[in-house]
Amino acid sequence: MTLNLYSLNMDKGLHYEAIVTTQNEDGTPNAAPMGVICKGPDQVVLRLHEGSHTIANVKREKKFYVNLSRDPLLFTYSLISNPPSTEFKKEKHGFSLKNADASFFGQVHHEKKVEKKDAMGENVTLMFHSQVQDIKQYKTESEPLNRAICGIIEALVNLSRVKRAPVEKKKEYTDRMKEISRVVNRVGGVEHKEAIELIKKEFEIRVKG
Ligand SMILES: Cc1cc2nc3c(=O)[nH]c(=O)nc-3n(C[C@H](O)[C@H](O)[C@H](O)COP(=O)(O)O)c2cc1C
Repeated sequence: MTLNLYSLNMDKGLHYEAIVTTQNEDGTPNAAPMGVICKGPDQVVLRLHEGSHTIANVKREKKFYVNLSRDPLLFTYSLISNPPSTEFKKEKHGFSLKNADASFFGQVHHEKKVEKKDAMGENVTLMFHSQVQDIKQYKTESEPLNRAICGIIEALVNLSRVKRAPVEKKKEYTDRMKEISRVVNRVGGVEHKEAIELIKKEFEIRVKG
């Protein structure tokens, strides 16, 4: 059977959290948590901010590996520095991670610069539109990580607590709800967005009550 991104339970238009592995200029491997947008059965987009090793490597080499995982330590090591060198596996075009649930290779075919102003100020990102090849699935029941469901659960916990929260805590809950809603609307699918709208409406009622 030929694998594609849909076989890895990825859906078109959704944004997943993964670990992107690239090769540094000196040939050593680099890993970092990154969002990966699924654009079709064999197309993804990376949206990278300036300043990381990953963006420098992807700009120079036009290639990367995406590793799907739900391992908290793998994500943490990848953000703080790198996983131990024994975690990397040499591949034809660079490196992947040995203990990933699934991995695939991305070949950049198109780049676009996007400049936006947001809460963090002037925000410049590069969108790397890429062709996916060499999909490997190591764990058959693997689910790619999408933050929207985590957001929905956090929002529901917020909702269930807000009525009995003291007045000074209600502002904190309201701010948290705004941030969760922003994330869910950015990374979620239709049902996540429908759910967060329902939660927000109910929150408005309960926060006043
Ligand atoms: C879950 C998660 C998702 C992230 N997604 C992105 C992203 O899509 N683009 C980006 O530029 N940085 C993203 N980051 C931040 C990078 O992981 C972070 O800047 C990292 O230090 C870069 O490492 P590097 O210098 O080894 O590439 C994300 C971080 C986390 C924890």
